[in-house]
Amino acid sequence: MTQAAVAILILLASIVIILLGYNIPKGRIILMSIGFYMLMTGAFASYSNWLPQTRGEVPEEARPVSTGDLDKMTPEQLAEMGETIIFGKVGGFTERGIGKGQCPLCHTFKAGDIGDRAPNLIGIGKRAEEEIKGPRYLKPDTVQTEAHPGSGRATTAAEYIAESHSCPSCFVVVGFGVKGTNDRESPMPVIHKPPIALSIEELIAVDTWLFVREGLEAPPVSAIRAAYEKFIPEKDRATVTQVKGPEPPTPPGPPIALGTDTPEQIIMKMQCFICHQIPTIAVAKFGMIGPVLIEGHSAPKRLASPEYQARLKAGKATAKTPKAYVMESIVHPNAFIAPAFVLANNPEVSPMLQDFAQKFTFGALEKLADFLLTLDCNAAMKDGLKGPPQESVDKVCGPSGKTAEAPLKATQLLTTLEEQERDN
Ligand code: HEC
Ligand code: HEC
Repeated sequence: MTQAAVAILILLASIVIILLGYNIPKGRIILMSIGFYMLMTGAFASYSNWLPQTRGEVPEEARPVSTGDLDKMTPEQLAEMGETIIFGKVGGFTERGIGKGQCPLCHTFKAGDIGDRAPNLIGIGKRAEEEIKGPRYLKPDTVQTEAHPGSGRATTAAEYIAESHSCPSCFVVVGFGVKGTNDRESPMPVIHKPPIALSIEELIAVDTWLFVREGLEAPPVSAIRAAYEKFIPEKDRATVTQVKGPEPPTPPGPPIALGTDTPEQIIMKMQCFICHQIPTIAVAKFGMIGPVLIEGHSAPKRLASPEYQARLKAGKATAKTPKAYVMESIVHPNAFIAPAFVLANNPEVSPMLQDFAQKFTFGALEKLADFLLTLDCNAAMKDGLKGPPQESVDKVCGPSGKTAEAPLKATQLLTTLEEQERDN
């Protein structure tokens, strides 16, 4: 019997007992008490049943995704595996979960959902077929025009999708390139490389889901595999198919950053590394969507900038110290948007995720802010980080690693104040 059926039985039984109690004066109090107690139990049981099952519960599908022999799987089984990789579990699509593929951090998937960070992937199969015939595709003007020398261009939808994953900059969808590059460079991470590092098997499952979920016939496994082999050179392929990708960074259970976590654990749990480069964090070397996080250097500068001061005056932002600035950036990203990252079509909304306020304890937020404030230009140089093109480390720090632009007087004041605070 299902849990829902049990809940309904309890509810019915409680009503019968209450009615009995009503009609039998001698046992009224006791019967009605029992009935009422059962009614509450039934109500709670059914309420928890009807609540959507959230990520807080250990999902049945938490078992590792099998990368066994895909050729024996039906398209539906493959699609289930793909849904698990993208959304964390079968059914994760409806619940808007996030799996090890990380795609929903940037993409939307449902008709009508408008994504600012990345295209909505609905209808991708058909769109791919049109895209590969267009002049922008056939005469690419991008930072990288071929996945590897001699690999050529995509000629089928399966190849277009495989190329999107293995060489995001080979073709950049209009309006979604890294800001300031004129759509010549994509902010999408190469999916078969760290930090996401999906194997070709996993990618085949992901691509199959993209077709099957729209009721379309997916390309055969052999065709999708051949597509990836066209765009991923053999030496990279061997490692991706033999070495299993890293374990999903978020364990099952509510992904809440806690004060007892280390800064690195918080960054892993919250997946900041998908968008940000962060010195000293091994996995955070590739993010191209947001600024490099060297807040010891950047936070005082941002605070003192006329743009921030204007937001302060308008009552939209509230920070007066670098630490408050960093904390605000994480939990109220729209208070102030770093100018180089303002979206033309949505200038009041930061491309940063909007729900960290619900995912951090105050202790965790403070700890992470303190940590980010220890990072500066030297730390970025030491790790060889380049930053995203619109705010490269060279631009922010100057080629020597020392601040190139003459710092504002107010900045100096803030920095000194902060130093004094630290010394005390
Ligand atoms: C960090 C953000 C980010 C993540 C994570 C990401 N993408 Fe993308 N993706 C983009 C952006 C931005 C574009 C558009 C620019 C371009 O063409 O490369 C894009 C383009 C694409 C395209 C081509 C879309 C089109 O309309 O032509 C496909 C397909 C795609 N992504 C699939 C995926 C899948 C599947 C995943 C997860 C395995 C994923 N992406 C993860 C940002 C991301
Ligand atoms: C989906 C991409 C994305 C994710 C995930 C993300 N960020 Fe951001 N973040 C951005 C973008 C884009 C900006 C710049 C726009 C702005 O200022 O709001 C930004 C800005 C910031 C800033 C202000 C930096 C500065 O120099 O002014 C901080 C601090 C920050 N993010 C921290 C984090 C932390 C910590 C996490 C993880 C808990 C995180 N971000 C996750 C995209 C992201």
